[in-house]
Amino acid sequence: MTKEEILKKHKQYLFPSVSTYYSDPLVTDHASMQYLWDIEGKKYLDFFGGIVTISVGHCNPRVTSKIKAQVDKLQHASTMFPNEAIVALAEKIAQITPGEISQSYFSNSGTEANETAIQIARMFTGRYEVVGLRHGYSGRSQMAQSLTAHNTWRRSLPAPAPGFVHALNPYCYRCPLGKTYPSCEVACAKDVEAVIQTTTSGQIAAFLAEPIQGVGGFITPPQEYFKIVFKIVKDYGGLFIADEVQTAWGRTGKRWFGIEQWEVTPDIITSAKGLANGTPVGLTATRPEIAASFKGLQISTFGGNPVTAVAAKATIDLIEEDRLMDNAATVGSYYRQGLESLKEKHELVGDVRGMGLMQAIEFVKDRTSKEPAADVTNQFMEECRKRGLLVGKGGLFGNVVRTSPPLNIAKSDVDEAIRIMDEALVAISPALAGIATRR
Ligand SMILES: Cc1ncc(COP(=O)(O)O)c(C=O)c1O
Repeated sequence: MTKEEILKKHKQYLFPSVSTYYSDPLVTDHASMQYLWDIEGKKYLDFFGGIVTISVGHCNPRVTSKIKAQVDKLQHASTMFPNEAIVALAEKIAQITPGEISQSYFSNSGTEANETAIQIARMFTGRYEVVGLRHGYSGRSQMAQSLTAHNTWRRSLPAPAPGFVHALNPYCYRCPLGKTYPSCEVACAKDVEAVIQTTTSGQIAAFLAEPIQGVGGFITPPQEYFKIVFKIVKDYGGLFIADEVQTAWGRTGKRWFGIEQWEVTPDIITSAKGLANGTPVGLTATRPEIAASFKGLQISTFGGNPVTAVAAKATIDLIEEDRLMDNAATVGSYYRQGLESLKEKHELVGDVRGMGLMQAIEFVKDRTSKEPAADVTNQFMEECRKRGLLVGKGGLFGNVVRTSPPLNIAKSDVDEAIRIMDEALVAISPALAGIATRR
């Protein structure tokens, strides 16, 4: 099919809600490691990886060779029939998850992973209410949308599911309390207690948060934040769920899981995306006594599918063998320096934040008012695309550029990305100069 035919059929046969990036949607054709090619043969350096999903490079042969062998051996059996692939993956996850987390439930997506976590937290505690954070994103089911705190991602509901409340998030660049770190003494963390005291029965089943809010625009809490919140959650008898859909598997550098950067050991971890390098997967992992509290029967027809399981195990093994958590830290800090230099040079860049190879730029029309510049963000993405670089978007106001390149990129890839971003900013600045320089 030609590009035009694909786009025509996309419009004709898919739900209109299947939205795409760019004014002229990018029709993908093939990919290899950090590169992706469109159907017209243009090559891109991919700094978004689908959506924060390509951990070890597109179609990495060390993963795809395992997938191919497994497809020929046993593609499907369902969870009713044990096989080596699922137990080998679960064992590996038990070896690297923090604390006493040692049992896994596999499903097909981050949404399902969070559904499972909330279900089990409610069954374990015998309680119902769950605290999330504003600007959080938890998925697309009714439960996950209710836990999500972005109006744009909650619209399809007839009504939110009951039992979910949201505390202020640790968004230092736009502090919801108008304070400044560190003199704020991390007041936002204490809002979790205020929310429990005033909007729940005081007896919560769980608190769920992304260590770094992904869709929210890589909002990265201060170092003390999760320790304070963890204590509050425990004081009120809840389980602490770390939604590691975007932050796990070494992405934040040095450690397997994002929450470990805050030195907190969660009760439950959920993940998806980067775990299987692009093969559909959902994971809910917890301690045996919590896992044992699930009442009734449950199956996931495709959860822990042997093909997915070998892809996930191969991805984790590769990250370990090639010490990619270290690479994420080293190349990530080099990348961060490059982004900071863009901030020094371009007024439109209001904030740079993230950890490891999970870095974002927030665009503003004015550094004093911090008025979000969503138009600049779109323009920046278009200009980067023209020059062969793919980046993602996020943030409640649509003014954050999210980047999450594969964990095995080199400094030379960063140099190329920064060069293109710089050029893109130079290209858009004249058009938006009136906005950028008005202070
Ligand atoms: C933090 C987080 N949780 C959950 C989800 C939902 O995952 P999925 O799209 O695989 O259902 C996402 C997806 O972006 C996410 O970023």
